[in-house]
Amino acid sequence: MDSVFSAFDAAYWQERYATGRDGWDAHAITPPLQAYFDQLDVAQQPRILIPGAGRAYEAEYLHRLGFQHIFVADLAPEPLEALAARVPDFPAEHLLRADFFALSTAQPYDLIVEQTFFCALNPTLRPAYARQCAALLRPGGTLMGLLFDTDFGPTQEPPFGGTREEYRAYFAPYFEFRHFETATNSLKPRQGRELFICLKKNNFPRSEASTLAALFSSISLTCEAHALRHRLFLC
Ligand SMILES: C[S@@+](CC[C@H](N)C(=O)[O-])C[C@H]1O[C@@H](n2cnc3c(N)ncnc32)[C@H](O)[C@@H]1O
Repeated sequence: MDSVFSAFDAAYWQERYATGRDGWDAHAITPPLQAYFDQLDVAQQPRILIPGAGRAYEAEYLHRLGFQHIFVADLAPEPLEALAARVPDFPAEHLLRADFFALSTAQPYDLIVEQTFFCALNPTLRPAYARQCAALLRPGGTLMGLLFDTDFGPTQEPPFGGTREEYRAYFAPYFEFRHFETATNSLKPRQGRELFICLKKNNFPRSEASTLAALFSSISLTCEAHALRHRLFLC
């Protein structure tokens, strides 16, 4: 962590839960996430990660819909215990008390769900957040959720705001933007202040993609020259 912000570590977050400074907690799944989840195909049983999940009402909702591969990650023990108490049959091994940035990328996820986690991080970690989401997803996997497109004013602790222009730069190297617009069904206090995002992970990082594009264009130029020389029309 840098010197401007204190370390928002497990102890910091646990203390916020313990003292009730948890104003982000909606106490229920939020409408934009519910509407998106209702369109998912449970038969596909995607691997879903909810990082910085807090009390994870989204995980509870998905679990009750029949999704079996939902993983929630959080630094603080209290919210994970709260989920386990509300949903006793939620698999204990899917409750990851872990740092998002240290999560293993060995078994990629199909879907990552974002809600008030990005804004909880030290803003210097935003590029690393986008990179880690990409590393955790399979090619073509989805990062969806909500980002605050708002200025919370000067502050030394979360939530930290920002703008869609700023956010675009973090995600553009790894993702194709399917949705990146003001959410229309936010909770009342968040109305007009959050972006609904749905980003598809590129099959190749941008640097590899441009190398491949250059390679294909040079192959196609060679093919054109070859076709002209040999009067071929296919290559
Ligand atoms: C503002 S709360 C949001 C919780 C939840 N997403 C919600 O909407 O209610 C941020 C959460 O991220 C967790 N957190 C912060 N940094 C983390 C990290 N590096 N890895 C995992 N969890 C983290 C905190 O413990 C906290 O539960």
